Amino acid sequence: MDNAFTMSNKDVAVLILAAGKGTRLKSSFAKVLHHAGGRPLVDHVVRACLPLHARKIIAVVGHQAEQVRGAIEPLGVATVLQQPQNGTGHALLVSKRAIGTAKFVIVLPGDAPLIRTETLRSLIEKHKSGNAAATILTAVLADPSGYGRILRKSGDTVAAIIEESQLSTEQRELNEINSSIYCFTAAKLWPALGRVKPDNKHRELYLTDAIAVLNSKGETVLAEIAGDPREALGCNTRADLAGVDRTFREWKRDELMGDGVTIQLPETVVVDPEVTVGEDTVLEPGVQLLGKTKISARCTIRTGSVLNDMVLGEDVVVEPHCVLTKSRIESEVVIGPFARLRPESHLLRGSRVGNFVELKKSTLGEGSKAPHLSYLGDTKIGSKSNIGAGTITCNYDGFVKHPTSIGNRVFVGSDSILVAPIKLGDGAYVAAGSVITENVPPDALGIGRGRQTNKPGWAAKKRRELGASSTHVRKKPKRKKHR
Ligand code: UD1
Ligand code: MG
Repeated sequence: MDNAFTMSNKDVAVLILAAGKGTRLKSSFAKVLHHAGGRPLVDHVVRACLPLHARKIIAVVGHQAEQVRGAIEPLGVATVLQQPQNGTGHALLVSKRAIGTAKFVIVLPGDAPLIRTETLRSLIEKHKSGNAAATILTAVLADPSGYGRILRKSGDTVAAIIEESQLSTEQRELNEINSSIYCFTAAKLWPALGRVKPDNKHRELYLTDAIAVLNSKGETVLAEIAGDPREALGCNTRADLAGVDRTFREWKRDELMGDGVTIQLPETVVVDPEVTVGEDTVLEPGVQLLGKTKISARCTIRTGSVLNDMVLGEDVVVEPHCVLTKSRIESEVVIGPFARLRPESHLLRGSRVGNFVELKKSTLGEGSKAPHLSYLGDTKIGSKSNIGAGTITCNYDGFVKHPTSIGNRVFVGSDSILVAPIKLGDGAYVAAGSVITENVPPDALGIGRGRQTNKPGWAAKKRRELGASSTHVRKKPKRKKHR
């Protein structure tokens, strides 16, 4: 069996060009580290190449080499340093040794992240079956500006790639572009590259010039037009980045909708690539699901909520405008609106977190509630407890953090301050407005506030006094003089 999906690519080396600065992005970060679709650009390119099972994947790094290495080495990519960066042709020359004896070389720019594995497979297939020296992935674009253009020789073959800056007036009409993704036969590539000269205003060696050299030697150069032209798009500007990001987000939302997720106003919803969402979950407009968030079936994530690295059970309702991070919510919980979960929080089944409530490293037991205006930090709360409005745990004494432990069926009255370390036993009560500095035993009532005294008639007397004095003091308002 040797079809496009099972063929071995052990004779293929993959080379990703990732050394450039990305001047047009106007950034202090290397271009390939800019994000689109929730990942660095180069990360997408590597992931598209991994399933090819090529002999090796090499990246040429240069600008911010250490940071780029950090992003791709964990994915099993070897790197070659290109210093200085004298153009895409030069990038290939410095990688010659690393490529070694591989018969074929797939070259990809690190800034074209929408490329898909299937497209690379058919590029290799076409190259091998056409016995070509080079096969170029191209695309036909309505607006080809900024790209090198394909100068065809005949129906299927290519004479040259003309860079934008070198186009003649009539060549400007060419709308088939070079994606910078190629398959080369190594034995033909190296001699051709050796003949490329830096004949351009940047004095760089352009890989694109190797195409005309191959053609002049009578070698076959083929072009494969990408089925989806977006796969050929590079990111040279911030506008390019935004366009590519939009496509990734659209693909991910389409995947989720295909899996039975309802998305309202889909173009407003941002979902990172590793997020999973269960059937019949509804995502309202403006929701962001980031990182490795996992949402089970039948949840509702209402408008404006941002979930990052969250795990949600079934039938959870996240009311509008919640910010939830690195925490776990079990089934049938209702949270929000305007709630915040900071890392390592855990809401057990059927619990309820209401508006303007913040939890950090805290657990809310089954059926327990913290409905309004609270801060719960480093706190463990048992089941069926009620945390009154405005309850604050004082977990920090200016030096270290201390835990708060609240048992089962505890009732904490509104506006209470729990000074940690502190324990409230099962069934305990805390009187509203208390400052609790000592443990409250099970089933006891803790009160920590001054006793109220009422002074009969005090207010009426005060009003009489103020009324009397104000008639003495009140002055006639001054009339403005008009001249
Ligand atoms: C390149 C092609 C152009 C094509 C376009 C597609 C050349 C000369 N031009 O133009 O025909 O239409 O891509 O997106 O190849 N890089 C290095 N070392 C260098 C220079 C660049 O590694 O010395 C890397 C960059 O980091 C980038 C890639 O090569 O990932 C392409 O370079 P870039 O400057 O983006 O080339 P384009 O102008 O887009
Ligand atoms: Mg580019």
